[in-house]
Amino acid sequence: MIPEEIINLNREYTMFSWSVQSAVEPIAVVGGEGVTFWDADGKRYLDFSSQLVNLNLGHQHPAVVGAIQEQAGKLCFSQPGFATEARGLLGKLLAEVMPGDMKKSFFCLGGAEANENAIKIARTTTGRSKLLARYRSYHGATHGAIALTGDPRRLAAEPTMPGVVHVFDPYCYRCPFGWTRETCHRECVTHIEEVIRYEGPDRIAAIFMEGVTGSNGLLVPPDDYWPRVRAICDKYDILLVADEVMSGFGRTGKWFAVDHWDVVPDILTMAKGLTSGYVPLAAVGISEPIAAFYEDRMFSCGLTYSSHTLGCAAGVAAVRATREEGLIENAARLGRVLGERLEELKARHRSVGDVRYLGLFSAIELVKDRTTKEPLAAAGLSKALRERGLSTLLLANFVTVSPPLTISESELDDGLRIIDEVLDSADDLCDPGGR
Ligand SMILES: Cc1ncc(COP(=O)(O)O)c(C=O)c1O
Repeated sequence: MIPEEIINLNREYTMFSWSVQSAVEPIAVVGGEGVTFWDADGKRYLDFSSQLVNLNLGHQHPAVVGAIQEQAGKLCFSQPGFATEARGLLGKLLAEVMPGDMKKSFFCLGGAEANENAIKIARTTTGRSKLLARYRSYHGATHGAIALTGDPRRLAAEPTMPGVVHVFDPYCYRCPFGWTRETCHRECVTHIEEVIRYEGPDRIAAIFMEGVTGSNGLLVPPDDYWPRVRAICDKYDILLVADEVMSGFGRTGKWFAVDHWDVVPDILTMAKGLTSGYVPLAAVGISEPIAAFYEDRMFSCGLTYSSHTLGCAAGVAAVRATREEGLIENAARLGRVLGERLEELKARHRSVGDVRYLGLFSAIELVKDRTTKEPLAAAGLSKALRERGLSTLLLANFVTVSPPLTISESELDDGLRIIDEVLDSADDLCDPGGR
C-alpha cells in the first residue's frame, strides 16, 4: 500500500488516542531497525522518543524478535492458572533486578493495568481506601489509574474513582510554592505530610509516584526527595508505590529510577521497557510482607491475559539483553553526554527555559520568555523536525529526548543537531521584548 492508503484506512476505521480525530497526521510506519524507523515512502526517522518511551532496545532487537518467534512456534498462550517456563524465568529475573526485598511479580498487560492492580493490592493489604498521588503525573487511562493521574487527561474521565487526593510536585523550575533553588526547603515534602494529617493517616493506603515524572515535563526530584517521602510513609504505615512504567528498565541509567536514591518501594509498577514494547506486558512487583499477606488469603486480581506466554518470553529476552549488552551503563554514560549537550542548547537558545535529564530520560522545556516563563507550545516544531528526519514526542511545551538505550554517541549528536537547528525557529517565536 502507498502511505496515503494506509493513513486513510487508519483514519476512516480506527480511533487515534488523545487526539481530535480530524487533526491527526500519523506517519505510515512500515519498518524499523535500531534507533531508526521508516515510513511507506522509505523516509527514515531517527526515533528520539523510543516511540512512547517504551522501545528501550530500539526497533527489531534480534534477541527479542527471536524469542517471540521461538515461543510462538512452541506455545502462544496458556491460561494464567498454569505455569510456564517463560513466566517463571521472567519472575526470577525481575526479582534479581528489583530493589530491596521485592521478589514476586504479578503480570498484566500495560501500565494502567499495573496501577489498577497496585491500587487493589494497596487497599486490600492495608484495609485503607485513600490514595495520594501528584498533580503533574500520569498513571494510565483506565478508571482507577486516571483517577490517580493528576494532569488534565483526568478531567474528561471525571467523576473518577473516589478516594484520591493530589499533592504538589517537586517542579523546581516552577516551584508550586514559589521558592527558588537557593531558598528551597522542600516544602513539596512537608506539604505531603501536612496533607496526610488533614486526610487522616490511618485512612491512607498508599502514595503513588512516578520514579521520575515522565510525560508531565521530566521532573527529576532533588536527591533527598524520595528518601524523605519513604520516611513519611514509614512513619504513618502508608505504602509507597513507585510507578516505574516509563522510568524503569535502564531508562535513567539504573534499573529503576528509585535506585538512584536507594529507596525501596512497597510496590513497583512496570511496563513499557519490560518487553521493550514488542508484546504488551506489565508487572506489579511486591515486597516480601505484601507477598506473605496473600499466602493464606485470596489474591483478588486476575486477567485472561495475565502472564501471557508470548509476553513473558519477550520479557525474558528483553531483560537479558538489557543486562548482557550493558545498556544501563550506556544510558548512564551517554546520559552524562546528553546532559552537557542539553545545557549547551539552553545556553544557545532563548526559547529553552530549562533542560532536565537523568540517563537517557530528558526533556527540553520551551518558553516564550525566560523571565515570565510563559510556555511555548512544542507542537509547532513537529513539521520541521519530521522534515529533517527526527521523530519525537512533543507534549505541551516539552520536547522529549529519550532515545533507545542502544543509541551511539554519534547518533545522539545527529539528533541533537536537528533539534538545535529547529530551535532557531522556536527562538523566532519568543516574545520580542523578552530575554
Ligand atoms: C508513568 C506512567 N504510568 C502509567 C502509564 C500507562 O501505561 P499504559 O499506557 O501502558 O497503560 C504511563 C504511560 O505512558 C506512564 O508514563
